[in-house]
Amino acid sequence: MNNAAKVAKLTVHDRTYDLPVLRPTNGPDVIDIRKLYSEAGVFTYDPGFTSTAACDSTITYIDGNKGELLHRGYPIDQLATKSHYLEVCHLLVYGKLPSASALAEFKDTITRHTMLHEQMVNFFRGFRRDAHPMAIMVGVVGAMSAFYHDSTDINDEYQREVASHRLIAKMPTIAAWAYKYSIGQPFVYPSNDLDYASNFLNMCFAVPAEKFEINPILSRAMDRILILHADHEQNASTSTVRLASSSGANPFACVAAGIACLWGPAHGGANQACLEMLKQIGSADRIPEYIARAKDKNDPFRLMGFGHRVYKNLDPRAKVLKESADEVLDLLGVSNNPLLQTAKELERIALQDSYFIEKKLFPNVDFYSGIILEAIGFPTAMFTPVFALSRTVGWISQWKEMITDRQNKIGRPRQLYLGETERNYIEIHDR
Ligand code: SDX
Repeated sequence: MNNAAKVAKLTVHDRTYDLPVLRPTNGPDVIDIRKLYSEAGVFTYDPGFTSTAACDSTITYIDGNKGELLHRGYPIDQLATKSHYLEVCHLLVYGKLPSASALAEFKDTITRHTMLHEQMVNFFRGFRRDAHPMAIMVGVVGAMSAFYHDSTDINDEYQREVASHRLIAKMPTIAAWAYKYSIGQPFVYPSNDLDYASNFLNMCFAVPAEKFEINPILSRAMDRILILHADHEQNASTSTVRLASSSGANPFACVAAGIACLWGPAHGGANQACLEMLKQIGSADRIPEYIARAKDKNDPFRLMGFGHRVYKNLDPRAKVLKESADEVLDLLGVSNNPLLQTAKELERIALQDSYFIEKKLFPNVDFYSGIILEAIGFPTAMFTPVFALSRTVGWISQWKEMITDRQNKIGRPRQLYLGETERNYIEIHDR
């Protein structure tokens, strides 16, 4: 990239260095420190990367203060209300909204990759029945490297394309089968006559013994959840996929690493943790006790589903999901569900509390997605697998952008070393 607009001056050990300042199309200027160590012999220090751009990208832009999220320039609220998940997948992977014919071709390709190699069924049977579906997803997606050898060469454009299609297409089947296996029901195979979201719901909730009617409002809500979780700039799991891919590892292994990272309760595991927290709170009258715990610096308890590393305004995805949650709850006649009542009361109280206002802690995407998934009928253990299924296209898009970037090199952060200086070995009889 060559868009340095001006320089930043840094004085270290009585010498001043000119550091190029790169101008983005959106967002803050970026100081290019790539030559800092070789020229000044110093590192920068930024654990958690709160002030560090690890790459350049053209896929997703977030403005945390404005509560803005764009995918290839299109606002998330427009995509969530006017588009559908597979069209957003095309936008993220190829950088543009498809023509009608290109969309039809993309949908047909994805539809024809939804089945798993039949021998992979044995993988599911190797897990304990009570295995967490995320454990199964990490294992099965990693194992795809052992079944799809013809799409693991990252230097072959065609193989990259096939691996991308396979991952987008097969993730619903893997997530649904992980669920079926955990409840002891037979696997339901993909149906090519169903749209992506309906096919996933069918594989999760249909049984061979009877016809499964898919409620169009629920499949629309499912598709909207998939759109809203599809990509989110350089979050922890995407950064994991990028770092794993920088060593040249195959895409299946890298996406498995992303799934493992997403599982954490501070990240994608928050939707499950949020519903479990609501169950723990139990009723609205116990909310003040938990709000007090969330504020207590000596208590590690966090209000799950609230706060965000980047958003210091309402997460734009949460705004759209809140509308979907109301629609789904009204449809299902569960708006008086105690759990969901507790959620609404918690949201009301938190948004008025000075601690949350001062620290700009708003409900995030995980707060509302958990409520909708619970209402659709998913157990909490399936919430993060749904997040992983949706975010696969984000991981793939970011992976593809990185792999095809000529500047791409293996990621290798340095450290601030605070350990012992050199010392001699002590024989055991002298210790
Ligand atoms: C996702 O990165 C992404 O884009 C992630 C994601 C995506 O799409 O990929 O958006 C998905 O991961 C959403 C976040 C889901 N996580 C949760 O809901 C878990 C609960 N949230 C927290 O763990 C927390 O908010 C984080 C991890 C999300 C962010 O943590 P930070 O970076 O520490 O947040 P911060 O710097 O804004 O915190 C400011 C203050 C801190 O206190 P002080 O050090 O100033 O005293 O607010 C506190 C935090 O301790 N705080 C909370 C809180 N979140 C932050 N206090 C109580 N409850 C919370 N939820």
